[in-house]
Amino acid sequence: MVRESRSFTAGRMSSAGSVTLVRLGVLVSGTGTILEALLAEALPVVVVLSDRPCGGLQIAADAGLASELVDRQSFGGYGETFARDEFTGAVVEALKRYDVDLVVMAGFGTVLTQPAHDAYEGRILNTHPALLPAFPGWHAVEDALAAGATVTGCTVHLATVDMDAGPILAQEEVAVRSDDTAATLHERIKEVERRLYPATIRKVIAAGVGPGEDLR
Ligand code: GRF
Repeated sequence: MVRESRSFTAGRMSSAGSVTLVRLGVLVSGTGTILEALLAEALPVVVVLSDRPCGGLQIAADAGLASELVDRQSFGGYGETFARDEFTGAVVEALKRYDVDLVVMAGFGTVLTQPAHDAYEGRILNTHPALLPAFPGWHAVEDALAAGATVTGCTVHLATVDMDAGPILAQEEVAVRSDDTAATLHERIKEVERRLYPATIRKVIAAGVGPGEDLR
């Protein structure tokens, strides 16, 4: 699909020789420092979407970007009452409204269900603060410390319906120090993520973004 009316310059040459432009939707739940790094790298972000009020939305506002709050509280909150499929449907609907091509999770705290992967097959990326398949889940940094790991790191991967289990695109190690707390270790991992994630996203864009493509 060629979109010549867009103002973004990231893209690749199609076989016809015209530029295929890519529109990124970034999903956040937290402080948004990874989002900041993506913006600093001038990636073509068209919308920032959050599942809760968070610092990432303020970063979007400060950057003059469109943002969407699809609040989990409106879908049953965080317990067993959470309507995950309905929430996922609302997220996909919002991303479609912004004509998003590539979905970039940057500290997003909700696992999306199959309809998101049907809508964006092979086009949802995530960064995780451990060397997957080691230490999947929400407490990856704490788990690495508790296991006595001397090396951990971060992983950029394609998201699938199974949490932290999709094909790995890039990884980088971070040494654990004997005096590390979860906070100090996570911050050093995030320093790497802020470099590795934008670089990997650029490679994905350069390789071409399309349903079912093998981006490894
Ligand atoms: C990152 O470590 C990411 O891997 C994890 O959440 C963190 C996001 O950090 N899923 P921030 O909110 O962008 O600072």
